[in-house]
Amino acid sequence: MRLRNEVIFFISLIISFGVSNYSSYPRCHVLENNSYSGYRGVNLGNFLEAPSEGEWSNGIIIQKKHFYRIASAGFNLVRIPIRWNAHAMATSPYTINDSFFDRVDWVINQGFTQNLSIIINIHHYNELMDHPESHKDRLLVLWQQISQHYQNYSNNLIFEILNEPYGNLTNTLWNQYLQEAIDIIRIANPNRTLIVGPTDWNNVWALNELILPQNDSNIVVTFHFYSPFEFTHQGAEWVSGSNAWLGKNWNGSQSEKDAINYEFDIAINWAKANNKRLFLGEFGVYQYAFTNSRIRWTTYVRTKAESHPEMWGWTYWEFCAGFGIMDSSLTYWNKGLLGSLLPDSPLIIITNTDTPSTTTSSLPATDTTTGSENSTVSYSMSTSQSNISSVFTYLEILPILLLISPITVFYTKRRIRK
Ligand code: GLC
Repeated sequence: MRLRNEVIFFISLIISFGVSNYSSYPRCHVLENNSYSGYRGVNLGNFLEAPSEGEWSNGIIIQKKHFYRIASAGFNLVRIPIRWNAHAMATSPYTINDSFFDRVDWVINQGFTQNLSIIINIHHYNELMDHPESHKDRLLVLWQQISQHYQNYSNNLIFEILNEPYGNLTNTLWNQYLQEAIDIIRIANPNRTLIVGPTDWNNVWALNELILPQNDSNIVVTFHFYSPFEFTHQGAEWVSGSNAWLGKNWNGSQSEKDAINYEFDIAINWAKANNKRLFLGEFGVYQYAFTNSRIRWTTYVRTKAESHPEMWGWTYWEFCAGFGIMDSSLTYWNKGLLGSLLPDSPLIIITNTDTPSTTTSSLPATDTTTGSENSTVSYSMSTSQSNISSVFTYLEILPILLLISPITVFYTKRRIRK
């Protein structure tokens, strides 16, 4: 009898521990005093954009749990960069490999299972940027195949025509190609949202050159934001000379904010004048910048994006590689960065986002930056949460607790009967 009481007490303790923590986290996306209702998402970068999946991620490929983690944090959109050109014939008829289509289908469906909207694009088509005229037909035939293949998918699948046009793909050529690609896609996908961006790596400065079809109201215009580049890309292996930028901070001074506002306002004013919705498809700071600066910049840019009704949504660059908000094995959240994107995430509690203070932030478990800097951001996490969250979040552990309880009762009853 005594044993039974102890066991019941123990089980109740576990359940109330889980339930109390579960219910204490806010569940909704929109902050108080924040009317933003657009998409909040993340890029699943470095996977299907690599020459072959796994090549840029130590053999790790996209799994179910990527989408589970993304959804449980509170995001509702995932942008999946895809190097289709590495999986299609080089010459006409430019057929895309069936097995690659199967793989992309699986990935999209995993996102849908978690109620996420999904953007797919054509990413890293570098040959097109170098030799646009000889790759134009291939680009269009790729879209013909992709758009036919996904024509019956729900409208939660969104097509982005091309990542970051640059180089020899000039404004004149790009304006022609995008019109022809849209005409092809619209044959079988009349109602799907399409995303198109300007040249110069989707830079706001090139928006004025972008010419879109007049009669299509379901086109969202994307831009990418990495300014100041020497801060966001410090130490980036693919940017030559970027090691010299290591140690650059973003302190959130008025002049730093003004510089961001200036570029952002170019996009916002363009959208107002052209009656278009905007998508901030990429923004982020590479791993070698000091964490507090990364958090300050990301918070500022994300908040700025959410302060304009022209914004349709944003996706942070990126989830679990060099700019990531999680480590690649999906064990640790960088909670400071997660909070800068989703302050009301069920996985985090944050106080104070922009008020100067003298305290040093409690750096997240993934922080590997060396050196120190004076913080102007202060974060507080409930201690119980920070102890456990590096491995499981409460939301993840709750089903386990609920499963264990009846099993324990069953075996205890059996032992007592004996
Ligand atoms: C672009 C590139 C991607 C890179 C990112 C940040 O999207 O395609 O590979 O990581 O910008 O530089």
